[in-house]
Amino acid sequence: MDALKDLFDAARAAQARAYAPYSRFRVGAAIRGQSGAVFSGCNVENAAYPTGVCAEASAISAMVLAGELRISEILVISNGLQPITPCGACRQRIHEFSSANTKVHSAGANGVNMSSGIGELLPHAFGPVDLARRKRTVEDKP
Ligand code: THU
Repeated sequence: MDALKDLFDAARAAQARAYAPYSRFRVGAAIRGQSGAVFSGCNVENAAYPTGVCAEASAISAMVLAGELRISEILVISNGLQPITPCGACRQRIHEFSSANTKVHSAGANGVNMSSGIGELLPHAFGPVDLARRKRTVEDKP
């Protein structure tokens, strides 16, 4: 069996629920969490355009709500002309819960076309380690 079939099917099912009346660009995302469980989400647009939410963000919310904080892999599908790679903001969102080689799979209607590590999509990322607590020194401004 195709190892990504469950993610592909979950992303497709989520994509079918996309609320994208303004862009008509329908996106579905599915995450495999550390436990193996799959979490999915779709884009949800809004009449106040900037308040719309990407599919990846919806899927991450579902994962966090279920008590999981690590992405093993994520698959994204859209009805665009070419396989979708996550937007810049979603690369940052995915990075938060990933390691550098966590795979991001880009799918079209017929299956996965490309897989990249999140470290390739967002090199030199700012992330949780940058905010790690450290001892204050005399050099620190108040
Ligand atoms: N969109 C996503 O859901 N994920 C992405 O990675 C790129 C863009 C959505 C946002 C908006 O609803 C529509 O696609 C067009 O930008």
